[in-house]
Amino acid sequence: MAKNDNPIHMKETILRLVRQYYRMAHQRPPFEPGKTRVTYSGRVYDDRELVNLVDASLDFWLTAGPYAEKLEARMRRFFGSQDFLLVNSGSSANLLMVATLCHEPASGERKTDLPVLRPGDEVITPAVTFPTTLTPIMHHRLIPVFVDCEVGTYNMDPGLIQDAVGPKTRAIFVPHTLGIPCDMDTVGAVARLHNLWVIEDGCDALGATFDGQLVGTFGAMSSVSFYPAHQITMGEGGGVAVNDPNLKSIARSLRDWGRHCWCDPGKSNTCGKRFGWQLGMLPAGYDHKYIYSSPGYNLKVTDMQAAIGLAQSERILEFVEARRRNFRRLYEGLKPLEDYLVLPIIDARAVPSPFGFPVTVRSGIKRRDLVAHLEAANIETRLVFGGNILRQPGFAHIEHRVFGRLERSDLIMQNTLFVGVYPGLTDLMIDYMIEVFTRFFSEARA
Ligand SMILES: Cc1ncc(COP(=O)(O)O)c(C=O)c1O
Repeated sequence: MAKNDNPIHMKETILRLVRQYYRMAHQRPPFEPGKTRVTYSGRVYDDRELVNLVDASLDFWLTAGPYAEKLEARMRRFFGSQDFLLVNSGSSANLLMVATLCHEPASGERKTDLPVLRPGDEVITPAVTFPTTLTPIMHHRLIPVFVDCEVGTYNMDPGLIQDAVGPKTRAIFVPHTLGIPCDMDTVGAVARLHNLWVIEDGCDALGATFDGQLVGTFGAMSSVSFYPAHQITMGEGGGVAVNDPNLKSIARSLRDWGRHCWCDPGKSNTCGKRFGWQLGMLPAGYDHKYIYSSPGYNLKVTDMQAAIGLAQSERILEFVEARRRNFRRLYEGLKPLEDYLVLPIIDARAVPSPFGFPVTVRSGIKRRDLVAHLEAANIETRLVFGGNILRQPGFAHIEHRVFGRLERSDLIMQNTLFVGVYPGLTDLMIDYMIEVFTRFFSEARA
């Protein structure tokens, strides 16, 4: 038999060609200051991601399969969590967490320690936020309670959380904005005092720590995003780390159509009694695959996505360290500009996994002018997501409660921007960014 008549050899040939193709087609041209766009984020990958992707597509499993299984296991080990569920985005991860807390257990089903969230219950969350941290709260007819955010950390002001708790408050939904950890000591203390659920939006913060503990391991559950701007990517994707063992099967069921059955895709009869169940008012022996214990979704990923994610997941620590290095270099370089800019403020207990480098312009400086200057020099900028979300057209009329005033959230909306720190940025690019920032303020002074 000729070598390529054998599918295994044929696959080896294809994958060898993929490696060659990567080397030919995916090299980045050298950086030219002012000409090359210094993006705020980007995919960082090599031939391993391409090989995995092609391998998964040749296997043609399509739905979550062997790669997804490996990636879930690796992320479970990373977080030391009870479970890790891959989903199709960070937004879906947030939805899944809220839906899980709202799940009404059927009689005989395992109960959680804290009460199920019901319509009208309140959830404390920051005013400066990403929209899909908020929408699952609204869609479950829970009431968001907005607290003001801090300039510098861009997180919920921890000093406000305790007093924001009201008689209907049942949960705190904590994002670690831009990868800067929120003060989880304070969040935990308030939650314990008032018997509140804590869930973390860790979409920006994979690998960050607070007091030596990994962000995403404090709450009952936490989300991550694997969109290309984030620490690792699989194109579209994300996941939920489930830390509370009582929530494992609920979250898995809600992700997988709400079904009671826990067979992996393509498998049948994992429970060994597929036609032997008798639940609720169902006919005896009703096929377990079609028994629904919750009104769920289908939030699963494809194995091609997971294949990319698996290659990326080998490099989490490397990527996070590169982000930290770029962050430190920018911080040192922009320090002389502190009369004009508020630089990031990091709690002594926090080690960020930076998503970007945020700065807030001080009074007398127009953010719009600085953004125009940076963009004209081909440095990409971003704002802190939705800013004070209550000023967004889609959120201005939502049912909510505000604790105190949102003055600093408004200030962040007006005066803050961020630039990139992702691992694709070189020292030359970072130095160029510092130079362009510095030029803006020396021109402004002249
Ligand atoms: C804090 C936060 N939460 C949620 C998301 C949503 O993630 P995805 O884009 O994967 O849906 C993002 C996206 O950047 C985010 O920054």
